[in-house]
Amino acid sequence: MAVRVPSGIPGLDKLIRGGFERGSMTVLSGGTGTGKTIFCIQFLLAGAKTGENGLFITFEELKEDIIRDAESFGWDLVSLEKSKKLFVHYYSPFEFEKFLSELEDIITKKDIKRLVIDSTSVFGLYLKDPYEIRKRIWEVSNLVKRWGVTAVVTSEVIGATELETAEHAPSVSRFGVEEFVADVLFILHYAGLGGDYDRTLQIVKMRRTDHMRGLFPMKITNKGIVISPKQSD
Ligand SMILES: Nc1ncnc2c1ncn2[C@@H]1O[C@H](COP(=O)(O)OP(=O)(O)OP(=O)(O)O)[C@@H](O)[C@H]1O
Ligand SMILES: [Mg+2]
Repeated sequence: MAVRVPSGIPGLDKLIRGGFERGSMTVLSGGTGTGKTIFCIQFLLAGAKTGENGLFITFEELKEDIIRDAESFGWDLVSLEKSKKLFVHYYSPFEFEKFLSELEDIITKKDIKRLVIDSTSVFGLYLKDPYEIRKRIWEVSNLVKRWGVTAVVTSEVIGATELETAEHAPSVSRFGVEEFVADVLFILHYAGLGGDYDRTLQIVKMRRTDHMRGLFPMKITNKGIVISPKQSD
């Protein structure tokens, strides 16, 4: 039986048999403002609480922005970094090689068990050749598996913030490759209709897991993301 790693998202684990498989890679896809970064922070906070050190690699927002995003929910990343439980590293998209060469070293030296890469969409700024992009994403996923690190990487879906668009889009991720490498694929949607649960989390696939399928109502409160157990149509 695979070891399950709790996601840190209230309501989600009971839909996915207790959490993510240790050493798996989850791709979290969705349009802008759908909650990808918040999800990632919650995932690392859950690890920090249970002795699993976390590493947040940010390619888009600066480190200070991530810290501020977390602060608005009352999460203190600065003190977690001081106690060596959660680390936030910023790389510019042009430091991609530096990131790859340092990743293994950081994982081993800081005893990292949970990794976030937010987001893989910037890879395309540095690497023009789609083959190269696929190769690098493979490299990251192999590294993660080798070290038994559980990873969540985000990927922005262009122009697919709304449900209808996402359903008919040719791909659910930026390069159309992330989802093939992924063990787990979630898509976040924002309907923008108002109301209590006006967001959804779509569980598209989960390897080796008998999971619930489909769309689940989601909300972002001042305590973070919450998933409703009630499946929507
Ligand atoms: N305290 C809060 N209460 C409710 N909703 C909030 C709160 N803080 C932020 N949000 C919502 O969270 C969303 C932003 O989430 P997040 O930054 O995780 O999105 P994202 O998918 O990472 O976006 P991007 O692609 O731009 O990075 C916004 O839609 C915002 O309305
Ligand atoms: Mg974000």
